[in-house]
Amino acid sequence: MNPNSPFLRKTSFKFPIEEWRVQESCHIALATDSHYALKEDLDDKCYSDALLKMVEFVKTVNPLGCDFAIHLGDFKDEDLVPNEKSTLEYLEKMEHEFSKFKGPRFHCLGNHDLDSITKKQFLEIAENSGNGLDSRIEPRSGYYAFDLKSIRFVVLDANYDEFGNDHFFRRGGDWQKPFIPEKQHGWLKNTLDDSPYPCVLFIHHPLYAYVKNGHSYHVVNHMEIRAILEASQKVLAVFNGHMHEEMYHELNGIRYFALNSMLEGTFVQRNCFYVFEIQPDRMRIDRYERFHKLDGKRINSDI
Ligand SMILES: [Fe+2]
Repeated sequence: MNPNSPFLRKTSFKFPIEEWRVQESCHIALATDSHYALKEDLDDKCYSDALLKMVEFVKTVNPLGCDFAIHLGDFKDEDLVPNEKSTLEYLEKMEHEFSKFKGPRFHCLGNHDLDSITKKQFLEIAENSGNGLDSRIEPRSGYYAFDLKSIRFVVLDANYDEFGNDHFFRRGGDWQKPFIPEKQHGWLKNTLDDSPYPCVLFIHHPLYAYVKNGHSYHVVNHMEIRAILEASQKVLAVFNGHMHEEMYHELNGIRYFALNSMLEGTFVQRNCFYVFEIQPDRMRIDRYERFHKLDGKRINSDI
């Protein structure tokens, strides 16, 4: 697919970096909340078209030469009656398409990734293919870090209960109460402190309070995590999914980007994914979304 396809609109957002801290430019392909499953649509949630959207994502970003791709979680979903076998098949199909990305690829764990399968089962199939990049990546861990082009990238996992047990929703648990356990705090602090580079973080759940329609979406102990990030003075940006909504906040000098989901809408109606570029003096986010109204007006001169 031509990345300049008239059916995808690219909109760019630029954010200056005050301090010159990044040596080399870096491009990252980002997608989140695709929720693939072969089940009936629910309102505008079109689970079965997520596979086509993943195919389009990979075909669009491959010619752009991104340094890596990362999915921010809720990669797949499950049947209305939870079923381990079909859930594993959904995960395998999505991973098969994601693996066509030409470069290292990574996953953040989302709550729907731990519905009728365990964290261990998910991580056995959803590979973090950049394992060769850096010894810091533990293949079977939901949280890890790696260095690329003078930036340290850190992936966090908030899919735990308050006692530090892995969430596994088939056996219970409250998706509205994700915690980052104590063990990960120390690891995060050390990972940031010993970084010679500025850091960019990825996590499924927001690190600020976010409540919608009576449901709570944020990491319960987000203030403790934010204190670690702020104390390091090395965090350029934090990306999350989970909210199915785009949002931007700058809190105590750190930029927080919530990215929109792939899930909503049929394939012909909608897709949504991003490319994030870090340059020495600025960050840029390109949003790709479906453009299906050919009204004769050029909306964005970038494409
Ligand atoms: Fe989601």
